[in-house]
Parts: sequence; C-alpha cells; structure tokens
Amino acid sequence: TRVAVVGGGQSCEHAVSLASAAAVADALDPAAYDVVRLTIAPDGTWLEGDTVLGLPGAVAVLQSCAAVLPVVHGPRGEDGSLAALCELAGVPYVGSGVGAGALAMDKWATKLVAGAVGVATAPGLLLTARTAAAYTWTHPVVVKPVAAGSSHGVSLVREAAGLAAALDAALALDDRVLVEDVVVGREVDVAVLGTADGARVVSPALEVVVDGWFDFDAKYGGGADFRVPAPLAEAERTALEEAAVAVYDALGCAGVARVDFFVTAAGLVLNEVNTMPGFTAQSQVPRMFAAAGMSYADLLDRLVRDVLV
Ligand code: DAL
Ligand code: MG
Repeated sequence: TRVAVVGGGQSCEHAVSLASAAAVADALDPAAYDVVRLTIAPDGTWLEGDTVLGLPGAVAVLQSCAAVLPVVHGPRGEDGSLAALCELAGVPYVGSGVGAGALAMDKWATKLVAGAVGVATAPGLLLTARTAAAYTWTHPVVVKPVAAGSSHGVSLVREAAGLAAALDAALALDDRVLVEDVVVGREVDVAVLGTADGARVVSPALEVVVDGWFDFDAKYGGGADFRVPAPLAEAERTALEEAAVAVYDALGCAGVARVDFFVTAAGLVLNEVNTMPGFTAQSQVPRMFAAAGMSYADLLDRLVRDVLV
C-alpha cells in the first residue's frame, strides 16, 4: 500500500515536524507500506527528496497514494489546511478533518468548546494588537499566541514589567493572543484514538515531570521526564478519560489526538488539544500507547488502515 508521509511545513514547528515525519516514515512496516516522503519547506515549497514538486506536482503524488499521513504540526498543517488539501484532492488522510484541526489549533475556540461540554480551562482573555494596550496586568499570567505549538511565543509574566515583551513575542506569531491565569497543578496528558466506526480508545495517561516550566527547551532538550502511566487515583483517571473523550468528540477529532491537562487541587483543567501531536518514538503519544502494549508500528498501522477505502 502506497502512503505519503508529509513533514516540515511553514510554522515555527517546522523542525519538530521533520523529526516526527522521519520517525513515522521509518516506523511504518516496510512489508505493508510503500512510503513516499514529501517535505514542505519553510517557504511553502513542496519537495520529494531534493526535487521541487510545486503544489500541482505534490497533489499528483498525494493522489497516487492510498492514504496520506500529514505529520505537520502547527498552522498550515495541523490547523486543517493539510486536511483541506487532501479533501479537495480526494485522498484519504490520517487524523482530524478540516473543522477539528482548525478548532483545536485555536486555543480560544478550544476553550469555548471545552467550556460548553463542562471541561474547565484556565480563565483567560483574548487580546489583539489593537486591544492589548487597554489590558492592565494585575497578577501572574501566561501569554501565548492563540495558534502555535511547542511553546513558541509563550511567556510566563510574573510582573508588569514583563508584559510588553511577552505580548510582542506572542503577537509576532499570531494576530490574536491569549492571556491566561497561571494554573498550578501536575501536567498530565492522555491520547484518544478514535476509529471511523465511533470507537474511542484512551491511552494510559502520561505525566510530564519537569523542574519548572515545560517550555521548548524542556520539551526538546531532554529536560523533562515522562511517567507512564501517570500515578492517578481511580476517580481522577476516570474523570481524565471522560473529559478527554468529551473534548475530542466536541471538537470533532479523528485519528489520534493528545489532550493535555493540568491536574489541580480543584480538579482537571484542560490545557490544549493537539490533533497532530509530536510523533517521534520518544514523543508522548507513542510512549503512551506503548505502555498499553501497542507498538509504534501497530499504532501507525491502525491509523492508516482505518482510513483506507
Ligand atoms: N505541538 C507539539 C508537536 C506537540 O504537541 O507534541
Ligand atoms: Mg500544542
């Protein structure tokens, strides 16, 4: 079965996506899959190896495949754009569709959807370059672009003096910025694997054990440890699983999504949903399913087989 693995992309997570896509391509069982690797350069150029395809050429390659694995994090990939390209090209693809990708990439929309199904998020407000000047800092907040990933453009603002630089960093990546109260709790993530027939498999939860802040350096510099399964009381685990599936379904996700929470003294607080989460063998999602006895290759095989027509 010929499948396309797309990596790279135009967002600030380009390099992270290259690593995820390379790992996915390597892990797909060569006895079952004939893998074509496509890369989107930071300027948007589509490449197969060193060969520039251009968009029409890339679409032709996608259409020559039975399925596409769009392993591109962030805007112009995970936000539904790659799903839209596959939809228009008429090629089955792994993961969330256009609407779910767009909603989950948008942390403000995710907050509204989660709230509507009774899942708490950090209290927060939305600012733009136009409205930011009217905001007065009164207590520690996290400032983040509405649509970005891997902690790019995210700052913890502990005092008023840090606000301007934080807003600039976030506004450099997005027109809209989220200012959220700081959540104190354990960072516990779970993956939901949905199938076309409506089944929902929830992975064991994973706790991020980090000294301080799970920022870009901790995420990719080896500064954090994962504990899988996360030690949780039975009631906490059940609540986590139910909240994760509720948000996954409310957003309309497909394939695998990683749903990130804080476990606080006051209960669960949703941080965000990743419809194309980090996918190297060391990344959270493969580690979570490995803890449930599903290998990386099996996870990928399951995702692809579910979309083959
Ligand atoms: N956005 C990164 C890739 C993640 O969520 O894993
Ligand atoms: Mg993310």
